[in-house]
Amino acid sequence: MIPDFFQFHQPTKVIAGAGLATDFGHELAELGISRPVIVCDPIVRKLGVVDRIIAGLAETGITVGAVFSDVPPNSELAVVRQVAALFAQVGGDSLIAIGGGSTMDTAKVANILITETGDISDYVGAELLTQPLKPLICIPTTAGTGSEVTRVAVILDEATQTKISFSDRFLLPTLAVLDPELTVTMPPQVTAATGMDALTHAMEAFISPQASPFSDALAFGTMQLIQRSLLTAVYEPHNLAARADMLTAACMAGTAFTHAMVGVVHAMSHTVGGLYHVAHGVANAILLPHGLRYNLEVCTAKIGQMAHAFGVPAGETERESADRVIAHIDSLKAALHTACGLPMRLSQAGVPESGLPAVAAGAMMDGASFYNPRPMDEESILMTLQVAF
Ligand SMILES: [Fe+2]
Repeated sequence: MIPDFFQFHQPTKVIAGAGLATDFGHELAELGISRPVIVCDPIVRKLGVVDRIIAGLAETGITVGAVFSDVPPNSELAVVRQVAALFAQVGGDSLIAIGGGSTMDTAKVANILITETGDISDYVGAELLTQPLKPLICIPTTAGTGSEVTRVAVILDEATQTKISFSDRFLLPTLAVLDPELTVTMPPQVTAATGMDALTHAMEAFISPQASPFSDALAFGTMQLIQRSLLTAVYEPHNLAARADMLTAACMAGTAFTHAMVGVVHAMSHTVGGLYHVAHGVANAILLPHGLRYNLEVCTAKIGQMAHAFGVPAGETERESADRVIAHIDSLKAALHTACGLPMRLSQAGVPESGLPAVAAGAMMDGASFYNPRPMDEESILMTLQVAF
């Protein structure tokens, strides 16, 4: 049934194609950009990707103001402040984020500091920005977060060891450049984990109370692409068709969840990431089937509908179809574990059993908890975490 009200707003321009990362300077010229600051991590810098992009931009007369290449995994506020300071120092006019979710989110939050005048803590939460930010171009080198098309950024507050999130329409990037050639060097386990993050975005968006026909179509398409290409991308890193599928899937899922939001799986994995530094995609991969079981009773039909996307034969009842979908996700996890050692349980990812109550408590406080179809209660979440342990 179509909801009484929904909206869809996606102003980010998406361009996609192999080799595009070295050939998009005209897009920046159209935007009036002449002095971008590049944000990336040390690995991306070392791989030579950044140098090729800089050379491509130079061909259209665009000079990069500076390159900040020290973004860590699970980036934090101190790094955001360094990026903003560098931007001011070199007189940048825009940001180009090249990397995974941590890099793109660092650039997004730095963009807040660059433009707004208050303390960063003033903008933690939703719809608190007062004006458009500098143009932000995102070039993902992983296929999972979808941050290149979302209005959300998540960063570690190192002082409290919690992930803080920012959500605002002004955080939507200006341009997303999807070049599958940039993702072929991604190690198999990162491919698997980030792919499972994208799948979690799609599945949680699909069962969200905020879902609309627009987000459903994007989420369903994401599931089909991931079903077709995730294992292929893990086993055949240089398969450009599979890489293009995964990059597209992550972007579509990003658009789906930035409208429909995510739920209990992300609430738990944000907390596990904050407390125990488990990579976001790994945490989601571990927790996804458990989160689906948590929601099974209240969205049986919607979970059952996903059978078509995964090529799973529908059951005779909605419940049977839904059970088969969740069993399929269990099988996918096992296949990825076999393929590249992706952890299947929290205990394999470095989470101590004694820490589970703190994870449950943290999940209850996470912003994603408000959008889960089944209301979350701490006792049930703790039980879910114990099963996932
Ligand atoms: Fe995610």
